[in-house]
Amino acid sequence: MNLFTPIQLRNLTLKNRIALSPMQQYSATNGVPGNWHMVHLGSRAVGGAGLILTECTAVSEEGLATLYDTGIWNDEQKNAWKNIVDFVHQQDAKIGIQLWHSGAKGSLKHPNERMKPLTPEEGAWIVKSSSATEINGVTPQELTIDEIQELTVKFADAALRAVDAGFDTIELHAGHGYLFHQFYSQVINKRQDEYGGSFDNRIRFLVETVQKVRKVIPEGMPLLVRISAVDYIDSEEAWTLEDSIALSKILKENGVDLITASGGGFTNVSKDKVYPGYQVPFAEAIKKQTGISTGAVGLITEAEQANTIIENEQADLVLIAREHLRDPYFAIHSAKKLGLETEVPWQYKRAF
Ligand SMILES: Cc1cc2nc3c(=O)[nH]c(=O)nc-3n(C[C@H](O)[C@H](O)[C@H](O)COP(=O)(O)O)c2cc1C
Repeated sequence: MNLFTPIQLRNLTLKNRIALSPMQQYSATNGVPGNWHMVHLGSRAVGGAGLILTECTAVSEEGLATLYDTGIWNDEQKNAWKNIVDFVHQQDAKIGIQLWHSGAKGSLKHPNERMKPLTPEEGAWIVKSSSATEINGVTPQELTIDEIQELTVKFADAALRAVDAGFDTIELHAGHGYLFHQFYSQVINKRQDEYGGSFDNRIRFLVETVQKVRKVIPEGMPLLVRISAVDYIDSEEAWTLEDSIALSKILKENGVDLITASGGGFTNVSKDKVYPGYQVPFAEAIKKQTGISTGAVGLITEAEQANTIIENEQADLVLIAREHLRDPYFAIHSAKKLGLETEVPWQYKRAF
């Protein structure tokens, strides 16, 4: 088995094990993806990645982080996504949408304005989370139980729209300090009700959402979840790899097909913890201890490195983020470097 061995998840076959990792582009208007997204996602499909994952895409307006993020809570957004989905399919690649709610990490300015909180004149909204715990200087309101349950429905509605738009798979973004993570990590979740306290209570919002989404998407469509495998915080309350393994087992039982093991989201990760392939051991431990397929992400930049992860069965998929920004043709270049076969678009054959 190598990087270019196809992988099957339910009825979906990916032609190789290279995915474009989700990357926010802060280039949407009213949540509608535009030409930028078509080129960004389309180029990596032309470049040979087997799976294209969209940036985190909000399931409701309050789920945005900035006013420039993408959404899929209305039909205008759905139709715009459909154009992109169709183009990616024409390149013989598959495409998944990453569904998301920012929770307390919302109502922010564009990164060019250093993501400071929006002012009321700029359209600031009240951000809500598991608890009124401060994150990045913002104290959110605590969600009511009714609101939590409405959110699980919003995820399912968004998933249905994504199926309508022709997406091949759905990924729930449950990492990086966003709303699901704000529930499962005790660092943030201080609730006293059935959505806080014990491990089972803290993962309840994610598990209930998985159940709702699984129910509305086709049986043959794989469901992916990205988690923060660790918080990278030195505290007794921090989420651990053991917690991630226990969570992954439960997600698998509820019909999740692949877990991508990322990390952090509440604080900056100290530099000594970040080195080539630094999160691969998380993907490997989750895969070995639960039997679920996993995706590895984080400083994977070289063809050999990516191929070794697959050959050694440390993960089933490698997700390439920043290297894909430097090289949209990472997959084709990797095949050439490794001496493996892959298709090159006929329009570009004279160059490769
Ligand atoms: C510009 C940018 C935007 C990102 N946006 C997202 C996102 O929308 N969803 C997500 O799960 N991760 C996001 N990430 C994280 C990446 O998917 C990836 O996990 C991280 O960059 C580490 O991988 P790399 O070393 O290959 O870049 C983003 C990263 C970058 C650089």
